[in-house]
Amino acid sequence: SWTMLNIVDESVAAVRRQVGDGRAICALSGGVDSAVAAALVQRAIGDRLTCVFVDHGLLRKGEAEQVERDFVAATGVKLRVVDAAERFIKALDGVTDPEEKRKIIGREFIRVFEDEQRAILADGPVEFLVQGTLYPDVVESGGGTGTANIKSHHNVGGLPEDLRFTLVEPLRTLFKDEVRRAGEELGLPSAMVWRQPFPGPGLGIRIVGEVTRERLAILREADAIAREELSRAGLDRQIWQCPVVLLADVRSVGVQGDGRTYGHPVVLRPVTSEDAMTADWARVPFDVLSRISTRITNEVREINRVVLDVTSKPPGTIEWE
Ligand code: XMP
Repeated sequence: SWTMLNIVDESVAAVRRQVGDGRAICALSGGVDSAVAAALVQRAIGDRLTCVFVDHGLLRKGEAEQVERDFVAATGVKLRVVDAAERFIKALDGVTDPEEKRKIIGREFIRVFEDEQRAILADGPVEFLVQGTLYPDVVESGGGTGTANIKSHHNVGGLPEDLRFTLVEPLRTLFKDEVRRAGEELGLPSAMVWRQPFPGPGLGIRIVGEVTRERLAILREADAIAREELSRAGLDRQIWQCPVVLLADVRSVGVQGDGRTYGHPVVLRPVTSEDAMTADWARVPFDVLSRISTRITNEVREINRVVLDVTSKPPGTIEWE
């Protein structure tokens, strides 16, 4: 629509005015906010923007490729990819406490990003850091919310303010739906534009127990099946998000073919919500749940049980960790 075109054009013009002939960097997370912010800044200053994508190995199936291949193809953004999966797995070795996991992931992310930053600075000075801050974030950081006190939140698209940089925040006046429309206007991959909320620490906080490569691979498959079936059933817009949680330290007895199994359960956590502060469990039709359960237990060998979380928030939180 013409109003959306105006928003895009005006943001691009504002970024040009702010950045002048300076250089900028931006951390991509795989989420819509950092992607739209980066695409706007790219339109404004082209190659003087360098994006950094730290692949922490905790993303869902296909998401790293979405950034590295589809987003770059759609925008022409100059991107540096850091495959840091090994480093994150090592840092998480033996860790089971949820808060400790969050802290470690946040800390490693900043370290990796800072290393990249140094490499980029070797090519000349960079004055600006692009962040995908939305209007509600601006309001919230003034007021503060309860959630932050319950779990430490990491938004890997949003780094702590670094005084050496001036922040460029092209989404500062926008709401989420406007960001999504801007993303479509900019031709971003629709899986990215319509991605449901996904925590910065990623699958690391959806494995109850220690995070290992094997467990990540198992959860990635189960999650992909759940997402596929929910989408196929046309439920994407009705459901706020649906974490799939691997209870990695729990085993239960099952039977498959003529053999006994002793596998792990996954929990489906579909919720409806307005703003994630409160949520209700989503009444997903039984036939959809049934398809998800059948497919996961058939296609993911290590999982022999699928359970449904029917807890509202409060008292439950949306994520299990
Ligand atoms: P909870 O589990 O607190 O989650 O009910 C509320 C919303 O926040 C998301 N979430 C996070 N997002 N970094 C993020 O960027 C985080 O560390 C984080 N932890 C939870 C969660 O997916 C839900 O949408």
